[in-house]
This record gives sequence, C-alpha cells and structure tokens, in this order.
Amino acid sequence: MPSAAAIEGSPGAKPPHVTFCFRCIGCGAVTHAASQDFRCSQCSNLLEITDPGWKSSGLDAAALKSLWRERRSSNAPLDLSGVWRFRELLPAPASAGQVVTLREGNTPLYELPHASRNTGVSRLYAKHQGMNPTGSFKDTGMTVATTFAREAGYRWVACASTGNTSASMAAYAARGGMRSLVLVPDGKISWSKLSQALDYGALTCQLRTDFDGCLRLLQELVLQAPVYQLNSINPFRLEGQKTLALELLEQFDWQPPDHIIVPGGNLGNSSAIGKALLEMYDLGLIPRLPKLSVIQAEGANALVRTLREGGGKRLISVQPETRATAIRIGHPASWEKAVKVIQATGGACEQVSELDIAVAKAEIGAEGIGCEPASAVTLAGLKKLLQQGFVKTEETVVLILTGNLLKDPDFTMDFHRGPLFHGTTDEKESDQLKPFRHPPVVLDATLDAVVTALNQAEKSDRTHSNA
Ligand code: F0G
Repeated sequence: MPSAAAIEGSPGAKPPHVTFCFRCIGCGAVTHAASQDFRCSQCSNLLEITDPGWKSSGLDAAALKSLWRERRSSNAPLDLSGVWRFRELLPAPASAGQVVTLREGNTPLYELPHASRNTGVSRLYAKHQGMNPTGSFKDTGMTVATTFAREAGYRWVACASTGNTSASMAAYAARGGMRSLVLVPDGKISWSKLSQALDYGALTCQLRTDFDGCLRLLQELVLQAPVYQLNSINPFRLEGQKTLALELLEQFDWQPPDHIIVPGGNLGNSSAIGKALLEMYDLGLIPRLPKLSVIQAEGANALVRTLREGGGKRLISVQPETRATAIRIGHPASWEKAVKVIQATGGACEQVSELDIAVAKAEIGAEGIGCEPASAVTLAGLKKLLQQGFVKTEETVVLILTGNLLKDPDFTMDFHRGPLFHGTTDEKESDQLKPFRHPPVVLDATLDAVVTALNQAEKSDRTHSNA
C-alpha cells in the first residue's frame, strides 16, 4: 500500500520534491496511507492527494516555469515525459529509476480553423490527448499510478473500463513488469481498445454488465485480493492527469484561455484538470482561472442531472446509453470532485444528443486531426454554450480531445456508410448528416471510373461551396 511516509523515508531516495498526504474530500481527514479502495476510513468518501510541502519548496512561480521549459531540451528519461517534466507538482516516487514511462504527454495544441469559422469563435483550440502513446489521455495518469503500484511491490494491477483505461493500464503494467486484470462490459467497448489490452498481455474479462457494474465488482475485489486498483478513484491517476492543464497553460505562455471544455464520464479527468487549475492559481502560475465546463452525452447525463435536479448535492444515477461508449457511465465515481471544480472555476455542465456528437466528430475529422466520439462532445457542447451566451465568440476556448480517431473505427465506418442510426429514434433525423458523410465508393478498376468519381466529387464540392 503506498504511503507518503514510506516514500519519503526510503533509503537512497532522491530528495523528495514534495511531501504528500491523502485528504478526504468529504470530511477533510488527512492521512499518510490509503486503503486499497482509496476511500476515507471514516466517511467512505474519495481521497485526493494534497501537497502541504510545495509552497516551502523554495521555488516560486517564475523559477518553476523556467525549470519546466529548460527540461524540454533535456534527454533525461524523466524530462522526456510530458508528465514527469512537471514533477514538482506531483507526488515523488522514492527513486526516479522506478518510474514507469512511455514518454506520455507532450501532446499538441491545434488551432481549429473550420470549427472557428462555423462557430464564430476565432481563438478555438484543441488539446489532443489522443496523441498519447496508447491513444488516450489515460496515459498521463497511468504513468504516475503504475509507478506507485510497482514501488509498493504489487504484482497485479486492475481496472474496470469502457476501454481506454484498460488499454493504457495494460501497456504501463507490461512496461513496468506487472500483470494486469481488465474488467470490461461485454459488447460495449470498441474492438480496437479491447485489442490493445490483449496485445499488452492483460487478463481480460468481459463481464455481462455495464461499466458501473464492473467498477462495483472491482471495488470489492481489491479489498480481498492483493490487486492494485487503477481506476480514477486512485488519486495518483488524477495527479498525473493534472499535467494536461500544466502543459496546456505552458503552451499558452501561462496566459489562461477563457474556457476549457472537457467530456465527462466517470469524471476523473475533469476533476484532475480542475485541481490543476486551482493549484496553479494558488501558486501564482496563472493570474486567473479559466472556466472549466463538462459535457456529457444526453443518454449518460448523470452529472447534468445531479447539478440541475440535485443542486450538486446528491448524485442522480442514470441507466446509461450512448454510442460514445467511452462515456457510457451512469454512476460516476468522482462526481463530487467534478461538482467542486465546476463551481470553483465558474464553469458549466451540458448534455448533447447522439446526432450532435456524430456531426461534431465529423467536423473535427475534417480538420485533419480526428478524435473518438466521446471527445467530440466538446465541440457539440461548445455550440450549445455559445447559443446560451455562456461562451462568447471573442473568448479563447480550448476543447480537450481525449481519444484518438482510431479508437473506434466502427463508429466512424457506420457514420460514413450510413447505418449509425439505423433502428434508433434518431433514424429519420439522421438524414441531415448526409453532407458530413464521405462513404467509400466501390468501382471497376478502370481509369474512366476513377475520373468519373473525381468529377462527381468536384461537382458536389462546388454545389456545397455555393450553397
Ligand atoms: N473520453 C474518453 C475517450 C474516455 O475514454 C473517457 C473515459 C472519457 C472521455 C471520460 O473521462 O471518465 O475521466 O470523465 N474513459 C474511462 C475508461 C471510463 O474506462 O476508459 P472521465
């Protein structure tokens, strides 16, 4: 079991950059060790990692900024990681040699010229976390959590997942010489994510339940078996995921954008980004807080309902259904952390329809970068927030794209070929998606046939540009 005391006291440890403890987000109790379900022993709420030491570390905001920038020209293994480069704001492992890394982070910030024109937001960016080693944002948290799992001597790590966590965990476990156990809902995760876990050598169990059922089972398992829990309930994961925000602000030369928009599933990522923003503000790294907004699929809108109907005070669970399978979650574990950061930063929470998601995904694809459906909720959500006047066109907006386009090829193929909405209540309305579809054409292998196809495409492009 990881404990701050053990880490600080390890012989030969590098001088810890920070000391850390666990704090309960409910009753505020502070401890130096956490049980395997990462819940408070007094009130059962979730834990977060606090860092009472960093303010006395002697480094001010300017010194931290220049140190982090300097490391970008270093070839030291820790500096090559876009996560560990920011290690002053992370819990410190006993030994730098223990760190399990695949050179995660360092993801691009793209301008979105097409979406800018369509929405009127001239300063619109995407931070593409799908460009991480296993194709999703999970890698930034996994490098930290698997490092602590290995340091604590675990042979097995485990997670419940809608696909990306399992792919990431399996990769980092393999890299760190550990075995991994994956619990996924049978038939509800994409083949490409499942295939990653298989290739990285995970013991993969497809359970006849949904994600929430898998997570419940995992929580029981970790209390009985010597298995280290790697869902985002694990606060080390969230510490690593904080670096998304640090890296983003560095890319903006520490001038905060007005809005950051992120998809919401189990709500670990929004909580991590929010925690990072608050810490950066507290440390004087940024002069003001961006508003952090969370977008969910209409069919998996537990946080939206929790805020609207429960006043953010009690979780309203839902029976989740969405083709954006990564966020097909009805009982988000980190809902209280997410409520806190949305409220602290003045953000919003919205839901978007399946049609909105499909269109937004095609639009991001047309930028030449692409993403998986769960990530596209951000652009769909931005359109809604603009309509409501919450976001203004003259403001700077960043969309967090959480997963790579290649993560869910079935969705993309079904969208372009047409059957994505067959047999659903959206079938009739899905006709409006036609202009966004680029289905493949099957032709005879003749020059004539290809030239005809080229001419038809040119004609159709001209019709659309005149429309
Ligand atoms: N986007 C993608 C691509 C995801 O895989 C997930 C979550 C989210 C957004 C939502 O992030 O849960 O932190 O709010 N995927 C998890 C998984 C649940 O198991 O891969 P969140």
